[in-house]
Amino acid sequence: MNSVIARAPSSTANLGPGFDVFGLALDAFYDTVTLTRQKQGITILTDDKIPVSPSKNTAGLVVQYMKKKFKIKSGVQIRIKKGIPAGFGMGSSAASAAATAIAFDKLFGLKLDGNTLVECAGVGERASAGSIHYDNVSASVLGGFVVVRTKPLNVLKISPPSDLRLVVAVPQIAVPAKKTEVSRSVVPKQISLSDSVVNLSNAATIVAGFVQKDSTLIGNSIKDIIVEPARAHLIPGFFAVKKNALKAGALGVTISGAGPSVISFATKKSKLDKIANAMRKGFASAKTDCIVVVCKPSDGAKTI
Ligand code: HSE
Repeated sequence: MNSVIARAPSSTANLGPGFDVFGLALDAFYDTVTLTRQKQGITILTDDKIPVSPSKNTAGLVVQYMKKKFKIKSGVQIRIKKGIPAGFGMGSSAASAAATAIAFDKLFGLKLDGNTLVECAGVGERASAGSIHYDNVSASVLGGFVVVRTKPLNVLKISPPSDLRLVVAVPQIAVPAKKTEVSRSVVPKQISLSDSVVNLSNAATIVAGFVQKDSTLIGNSIKDIIVEPARAHLIPGFFAVKKNALKAGALGVTISGAGPSVISFATKKSKLDKIANAMRKGFASAKTDCIVVVCKPSDGAKTI
């Protein structure tokens, strides 16, 4: 085999109280990566505005790491087509990393298990987040809802209920180059025991909701009193977007990953267009345009 194409979905991380632990793959946007054997070295080709130096590019870092880890001598050409808006909390860098890990596995016949693919894709996050966290990459590699245990890395996947729907509003604002680093810098380093109990109770209930396939229980538990309040000021109109969406029938509303996108949790019986309009109006109240997508959870990255 000389060339492999893989496609990986966007994702939302945290789902409120599950900071760096929860991820959900979203059937909203996709990145596509084509890996082709070449004589030597790593070459990156893309029409998108992303770095093409392998050590600064998400996919490049994954290929560097996998070549070394699995002692692959062949060179690799990486062609990247971004479909996921970068820097908006939709798991854009994670999807390029996930597609790359899946494609590399197939190209060199490695037959790696899910945890190893997630570990390899996680290396790519260093390029954008400055630190490795596995919530988005796990969701993008495995699909569905994921719980990330670290030290040692052990990712659990749970299939979401079929009636779960998400409404994602992506504000059209300029985001800093190192957005994730910026939005991580405002997260409190210390928290009170009582706050951690509240978040833990909601996080545990979200997991129960996915296990019991109960979208209402999931949506009602999307409540974060630790990270969301610390980041809200980075998103123009956040409180209006949240209030409007809840009033329009969303079960739960929070920041998607490190933001600035905002995500509403609902079911297929909810008035999804009404929630979408409510979120749009919330951003408009802060003079901010947004793109709104209504979607379902997604399967994981696949070769095509
Ligand atoms: N869990 C991460 C964060 C996701 O919220 O910072 C961003 O990549």
